[in-house]
Amino acid sequence: MEDFKSKKILFIFGTRPEAIKMAPVIKAFQKESYFETRICITAQHREMLDQVLYFFEIQPDYDLDLMQKNQDLTTLTSRALVALKVPFEDYNPDLVLVHGDTTTTMTASLAAFYAGIKVGHVEAGLRTFNLQSPFPEELNRQFTSKIADFHFAPTQQAQANLVAENISEEKIVITGNTVIDALQETVVKIKKLKPSFAAGIPFDSKKIILVTGHRRENFGDGMQRVCNVLKEIALAREEVHFVYPVHLNPNVQTVVEKTLGGVSNISLIAPLEYPDFVWLLNESYFIITDSGGVQEEAPSLGKPVIVTRDTTERPEAVNAGTVKLVGTNTEQLKTEVLDLIDNVEAYKIMSSAHNPYGDGKAAQRIVNFVKDRL
Ligand code: UD1
Ligand code: UDP
Repeated sequence: MEDFKSKKILFIFGTRPEAIKMAPVIKAFQKESYFETRICITAQHREMLDQVLYFFEIQPDYDLDLMQKNQDLTTLTSRALVALKVPFEDYNPDLVLVHGDTTTTMTASLAAFYAGIKVGHVEAGLRTFNLQSPFPEELNRQFTSKIADFHFAPTQQAQANLVAENISEEKIVITGNTVIDALQETVVKIKKLKPSFAAGIPFDSKKIILVTGHRRENFGDGMQRVCNVLKEIALAREEVHFVYPVHLNPNVQTVVEKTLGGVSNISLIAPLEYPDFVWLLNESYFIITDSGGVQEEAPSLGKPVIVTRDTTERPEAVNAGTVKLVGTNTEQLKTEVLDLIDNVEAYKIMSSAHNPYGDGKAAQRIVNFVKDRL
């Protein structure tokens, strides 16, 4: 074809979960000669992002290297908006692809809009309708939906949320969540894995409970209450062992290390590489988390999840019965965690494997839709 000109796609992302969920999409686009692709990382995260890039063998073309220690939202937002002009001016893409709900997602959408460049939003349409929870992610999602030209909704519910906001159905496609694409690829690889972090953790003799936490609305009192409950249960119950890969945000590290450091049946460890984390998910009895991505992954592996949040934009797994929204109220959290430790029947019901988030072919559906429309 003589006058064939490939369409230029620019992927922009900045944090660990965005990278995990964009990796399959990047690979799917790179296979198509119809597209030319470049990758821009804001590096809103540094070490936690680099871990993912390394595992999925992703080479960024632009690294804006924005992360600062204990960064605040305003500064990160303004620095990102300015820095994003560089890849746009240098590459002038036909389409920018963003993911999810972070400051990177919101600023990249806005910067693309200002530059007159089309935006495709992967994982579109998740809603709590409460701007304070998750904060500021709910705003980031609603904002990005206003700008996006293509909306890749992971579920029917997400699509319905977008339609209710008067977004034309023609701009939306239900794809499944690309986290399932990433998980399926990784689950195969973990079969041979013997992660070094696991040495000294009693996987064979105790119930392993995996914990993660990083939500801004839980900083301070909420996170402290969660840690207090974990400590009380750890001290009372020798038969359980908590494994907690601690997020690098200082607002998390300080509380977690101060409260839980030195308890013999709590292992505080550094953030894990994605395959190690999936291995740990698979080896755990159940999970306590406020993470969005973990709420999507655990049901596929048949692992019950207690969510330390009052709201979730991911109701599908709650409705399926694998995920329970508990919040950070001390008594309620203690009751639910102890029930899942002691009540075998309740555990069995929650641990039936459910996967409302897709069939692992989300990335290809995104490629097909863009090919059709661009
Ligand atoms: C961010 C996202 C959140 C997402 C989460 C995933 C926003 C507002 N928040 O929250 O939506 O769920 O990532 O984990 O976009 N840090 C490091 N090294 C790293 C990563 C973070 O040291 O690799 C520390 C830095 O001190 C940094 C701080 O954590 O300033 C906060 O990082 P930031 O991306 O602003 O917020 P998160 O809480 O990670
Ligand atoms: N994850 C990881 N290592 C860890 C903890 C989590 O690779 O030590 C992965 C996890 O499998 C999921 C994603 O990171 O895919 C979730 O990221 P996070 O909880 O930071 O953000 P959220 O999903 O809440 O935005």
